[in-house]
Amino acid sequence: MQCRLNHNDAYITTPIYYVNAVPHIGHLYSSVIADTLRRFYALKNYETSLTTGTDEHGLKIQQAAAKNNTTPIELCDKVSDSFRKLCDKANIQYTTFMRTTEPRHAKAVSHLWNALLNAGYIYKGQHEGWYAISDEAFYPDNQVHKITDEQGNDMMVSTESGQRVEWTMEENYKFKLSDFEQPLLDWIEQNPQVIVPANRKKEVISWIQAGLGDLSISRLRSRLDWGIPVPNDPENHTIYVWLDALTNYITAKGYPDTTEQISAKVHVVGKDILRFHAVYWPAFLMAAGLPLPQQILAHAHWTMGKQKMSKSRGNVADPFEVMETYGVDPVRYYLMRDGGLADDGDYSEDGIKKRYKKDLAGQLGNLLNRSTGESLNPEGKVPAMASIVDSRDKTIHDKLTALPGIFDTHFEEREFNKGIVAIMDMLAEANKHFTDNQPWKLKDQPERRNQVLYYALESCRVAGILLQPVMPTKMDELLSRLGVPENQRSFSDAALSCEMRLLGPSTGVLFPRL
Ligand code: MSP
Repeated sequence: MQCRLNHNDAYITTPIYYVNAVPHIGHLYSSVIADTLRRFYALKNYETSLTTGTDEHGLKIQQAAAKNNTTPIELCDKVSDSFRKLCDKANIQYTTFMRTTEPRHAKAVSHLWNALLNAGYIYKGQHEGWYAISDEAFYPDNQVHKITDEQGNDMMVSTESGQRVEWTMEENYKFKLSDFEQPLLDWIEQNPQVIVPANRKKEVISWIQAGLGDLSISRLRSRLDWGIPVPNDPENHTIYVWLDALTNYITAKGYPDTTEQISAKVHVVGKDILRFHAVYWPAFLMAAGLPLPQQILAHAHWTMGKQKMSKSRGNVADPFEVMETYGVDPVRYYLMRDGGLADDGDYSEDGIKKRYKKDLAGQLGNLLNRSTGESLNPEGKVPAMASIVDSRDKTIHDKLTALPGIFDTHFEEREFNKGIVAIMDMLAEANKHFTDNQPWKLKDQPERRNQVLYYALESCRVAGILLQPVMPTKMDELLSRLGVPENQRSFSDAALSCEMRLLGPSTGVLFPRL
């Protein structure tokens, strides 16, 4: 299944968020990773797009609306709006905000259904199994187990999600997922980076190797009418919400009117929804003859006090409040620096404060302050590079020169924390170079003093360029202070510059004390 790929095209997606609960920090995490990736590719001059949005159909929403004495669409409008506000607040620069209740989406889903039907992959069958309403998923016997709740009642739960399951039997439409075991395994083998990190890829391979049963892809309309009707049986069946939701990724790109450039460079998802993205979604696409995604990046979760975040436990962080307190960019920085990719990260405000003080104010802000301040830089300029690099400058010179390549490799390998650590290491070295050379004692040696200033200011500029995807607003401020024109802020500009440049106007301290 070859897709027509423009290699300079980076289409990035976030999951679409359920509207049965308001946004929390975990949702923001998925979105910040996706937005950072989009900006990273924009930095490298790719054509980029980012889609996000809300997942509005299904039993969960139907039930949440009933519980809140409202209609499903009223609930959807309200909560969808709060996710849109979260994007705006966090500077998530989406190109489309998909809502699955939009007519264009129903058209895409119906079209995809018909493509699967016409290709012979849908049949009507009896379906019974362990069904979790909260996950909207059936689970096989070997993926459920019995627990006893606090009241002493026995119940069955899904091993993967921990959600309650009930034995359910109904007649519905099924998708021949079992036909795709080998094609999926081949796809993963031929594209080693298609599921990352490696621990998740292993998980997916083991699920497939354990055998894929056919998948129930409709629900009785009598039980669930909040969804898109099955085109060939609209009175009796509603399309399974995950088939509906996953399709948003191609609706956003104009499917079915076009099938060009609809494949994602990266689907950013949480580990809890990996099966849907790494097994069902590529199987649907293969069956419909559509291009496959290039990568599924499944991040780990944020815990709090080492516990799973949950509303009932009262340990969920409100992303709006945290950004209000610490600023948008420091929160984005913290999520990307300390967030778990392969393993869960433990969220705390102390963690945010620590990064703010140590990395942002302590390294970057400090170096910028010292090197742009009136006393040491009265002419307000970035001096030209001296023709000979002094031996005392070698370490920082080499670190600075190597940094863009190192950063790029880590980001391409989705090791965001390592990419950020490399920048902070370079900045620590630059601060040390500055302190060791004591430019305040070099009044009589203007050439040497200029060279010391040069390395400090270049370190700020290179760090500023590379950190734009993570902290777009603060790095814009920093680069403007350094007098870097807007058309000289792309990845290729992160090489050492030789020419003198005037600083821009001072706009105050970049990372003021909290
Ligand atoms: N609606 C589905 C996705 C459909 S995509 C076609 C869904 N929605 S969700 O609102 O429950 O979750 C959205 C994202 O938030 C998932 O990627 C999930 O992993 C992420 N997070 C929810 N809680 C989280 C944490 N505690 N930590 C990190 N991310 C978490 O699933």
